[in-house]
Amino acid sequence: MTTSGTILVIGATGTTGGRTAARLTAAGHHVRAASRRATPVPGAQPVRFDWYDPGTFGGALDGTDRVYLVPPLGDPDPAAVMLPFLRQARAAGVRRAVLLGSSAIPADGPGVGAVHRALPELFDQWAVLRPSWFMQNFTGTHMHARSIREHGVILTAAGSGRVGFVDADDIAAVAVHALTDDRAPGTDLVLTGPQALGYDDIAAIVTEVTGRPVTHQPLTYERMRDRLAGQLPLEFAEMLAGMDRAIAEGAEDRTTDTVQRLTGRPPHSFREVAERELTRGG
Ligand SMILES: NC(=O)c1ccc[n+]([C@@H]2O[C@H](COP(=O)([O-])OP(=O)(O)OC[C@H]3O[C@@H](n4cnc5c(N)ncnc54)[C@H](OP(=O)(O)O)[C@@H]3O)[C@@H](O)[C@H]2O)c1
Repeated sequence: MTTSGTILVIGATGTTGGRTAARLTAAGHHVRAASRRATPVPGAQPVRFDWYDPGTFGGALDGTDRVYLVPPLGDPDPAAVMLPFLRQARAAGVRRAVLLGSSAIPADGPGVGAVHRALPELFDQWAVLRPSWFMQNFTGTHMHARSIREHGVILTAAGSGRVGFVDADDIAAVAVHALTDDRAPGTDLVLTGPQALGYDDIAAIVTEVTGRPVTHQPLTYERMRDRLAGQLPLEFAEMLAGMDRAIAEGAEDRTTDTVQRLTGRPPHSFREVAERELTRGG
């Protein structure tokens, strides 16, 4: 694919978009880094973009031929704002779209599933990244990371269910491949790390790596929902607690070879990520 156009990275200040923008600029691509306040991103051209303000779409799309899509967060119907944007993007000359979805939501699923279903009709060149849960949930600003730092505990309704946790940097590496390779994947890609781990395993690894005791405290679905509902709308709290319950039932207990296949190297383990992001010298 030609490298003359601009790649618009939506969510460029976030966990996957930031890493994707960094990798693209390091490889010499021209990147427009979108966020609500046009926050500067090294090596990229910042642009103001808000899913809920269509007036920001035109400026973000000007000269763009490829786009990385992080959906509006916590919106139960992201298609309502994303599909008008994607139609405008196609009319403006965008030829390739790479959507960040989730392993938990297939094409026939709710929410971002509707955007997934529409993508192949809008763009000849497309991919949907469907990562499992992020390893950065334990190292960044996510509630698990905060709870680890503040209370030495991880609270879930996932029981002993296992998850193929994936490094956001590996997601970004796949995103770059999907955005810049001569051939777009033209499919969805379930992304995991090298092993499925339980939250007990995560707590044990964080304890070993940081030297500070961390435990996993399993809660019932109802207790988890009620705790989350203290900070989030009830509908969203129910959805998140429900995802934990699905994990307890084995829904995320899998690994795939996608990162290795697309990037040519194995995905990072949780221990590697914890050593990199939770220790000063790591
Ligand atoms: N965490 C997990 O374990 C996990 C697993 C699978 C899938 N996912 C999916 O990953 C997605 C989150 O991706 P992420 O972690 O890369 O993002 P993130 O770190 O949560 O950051 C969100 C990004 O979106 C931007 N943003 C927020 N509201 C916006 C709006 N109204 N208009 C435009 N931009 C907006 C933010 O920028 P500003 O605030 O600067 O505007 C930020 O750059 C979610 O869709 C989630 O379903 C997460």
